[in-house]
Amino acid sequence: MKIFRKKSIHLAKTDGLAEHESLHKVLTVRDLTFFGIAAIIGAGSFSSIGSACFSGGPAVIFLFIICGVACGFTALCYAEFASRVPVSGSAYTYAYVSFGELFAWIIGWALLMEYSIGNIYVAFSWSGYFTNLMEGFGVHLPQWLSANYSESLSAFENDIAGESLNAWNTAPQIGGLRIIFDAPALFINIIVTWLVYKGTKESRNVSNAMVIIKLSIIALVVAVGVFYIDIDNWSPFMPNGFTGVMGGVAAVFFAFIGFDAVSTLAEESKNPQRDLPRGMIYSLLICTVVFVILSLVLTGMVSYSRLNVSDPLAEIFAMKGVKWMLFVVSIAAVVAMTSVILVFQMGQPRIWMSMSRDGLLPKQFAKIHPKYKTPGFSTIVTGLVVGVPIFFTNPKFVLDFTSIGTLFAFVLVCGGVLTLPHEEKIVSAETKGKFRLPYVNSKYIVPVFTILGFSLLIYFIPDFVMSKFNITKDNAASNIPMLVFFILWITMAVLCFLKNLSLIPVLGLLSCCYLLTGMEAQNWIWFSVWLLIGLVVYFLYGYRKSKLNIK
Ligand code: ALA
Repeated sequence: MKIFRKKSIHLAKTDGLAEHESLHKVLTVRDLTFFGIAAIIGAGSFSSIGSACFSGGPAVIFLFIICGVACGFTALCYAEFASRVPVSGSAYTYAYVSFGELFAWIIGWALLMEYSIGNIYVAFSWSGYFTNLMEGFGVHLPQWLSANYSESLSAFENDIAGESLNAWNTAPQIGGLRIIFDAPALFINIIVTWLVYKGTKESRNVSNAMVIIKLSIIALVVAVGVFYIDIDNWSPFMPNGFTGVMGGVAAVFFAFIGFDAVSTLAEESKNPQRDLPRGMIYSLLICTVVFVILSLVLTGMVSYSRLNVSDPLAEIFAMKGVKWMLFVVSIAAVVAMTSVILVFQMGQPRIWMSMSRDGLLPKQFAKIHPKYKTPGFSTIVTGLVVGVPIFFTNPKFVLDFTSIGTLFAFVLVCGGVLTLPHEEKIVSAETKGKFRLPYVNSKYIVPVFTILGFSLLIYFIPDFVMSKFNITKDNAASNIPMLVFFILWITMAVLCFLKNLSLIPVLGLLSCCYLLTGMEAQNWIWFSVWLLIGLVVYFLYGYRKSKLNIK
């Protein structure tokens, strides 16, 4: 069928190479690693880590390791693809060569959530820390200029006292409409859009400097914090059991998002085939170590039960009376989140650029600015896509949307790698990338692991397993995702046995699908609506204009 038509790896590479000379090839493995860290350490590390510690206690480090491993499998799959198809576009391009055009479009559409919608959340978090910092300098923004409209409306409707309600009550009105918006979030979006528009080299310099600052300050937090650790705080180590640990999965997963942004810079790196895999894996390793140390310091300094706050790194020092660290941490948070926004704001236009080259989006999206050598039009559209919703969405909604879209993309990337050996036989010389995913035959490992896993589950928590098979109207939302996961797990085990699949992508696929079971039913509904809109756009535009129609 036409919608499953694939782009050959050869074509993807030559398409990219045609424009290759137009973009500045300035990025080295160190830059790529820094880009990865710039994208990973941000709102998750400075905000949501607190709720994860609160839910899991000190044992939250296991969750960081589990998510790190799941992301690691996915990073290896990304790396395998990135070395074979070293062009911009990330998972979108990978899906095009492995699953075909329709899936590629769906991935591109889903990635919009990771890059643009994710940036809305980070901009909101940035604004929170920035506002605190300004107050430290004695600058007070009116509440209606730093609040969220949707949260203020909800506070008014439900009569919840606090800053949001104050913003509602004090906001000026134009024609009955209350003027409430997050001005700092808007401000950072405009600044970053301008920076990215101006050029990769400039953005890279700013990004590298910010990574150095944030890693240094995190090192300082650890170095100072170590002196305040009371090992009694690590006991009990797992206060809410493993369920409590897993309760923080969304927050912890968000902290890891970003390593894949490195793959969007293929066309600007000096040696993409060698450096992209390294950049992704190095940044992931460094960040996992940072997260584990940080959670041990947090839970060692104060009881885990006091960490359910939006600014845990600042809070621990406030509780210990180390005032000067409050200031330092706020600066680090602002810097860290700025670099996250920067990397994502660079990634999105490059994905659109690839989609436009394939004919799936209008030509303007691939236009390179003659002077700055950046995809100027796409960069401005990204700025609008991030900036406009700042006026009406709320942080919780965009956070959930980001996670679901990102995990969805990860699942398709891991699945895509499973189809690659077949492709390689067709165009072996062209597909010979320098990075090779180690092939471990899953034929016996996965089935044995599956039988063992289910046996242990049934032995230790039989009620949990049986409840998933007992779907009622009331529990459907919580049980169906896990039931689907069980079926997928068993199906994969059978496929591994029959088809000798490669172990790493299989583990990546299963671990990401497991994380997806943690998403709320409501989010699945919104996600489905989003995909449906995407399909309508595809059939009205991309399907008819695709370059594959003429190639
Ligand atoms: N991992 C990125 C952050 O925590 C998205 O901000």
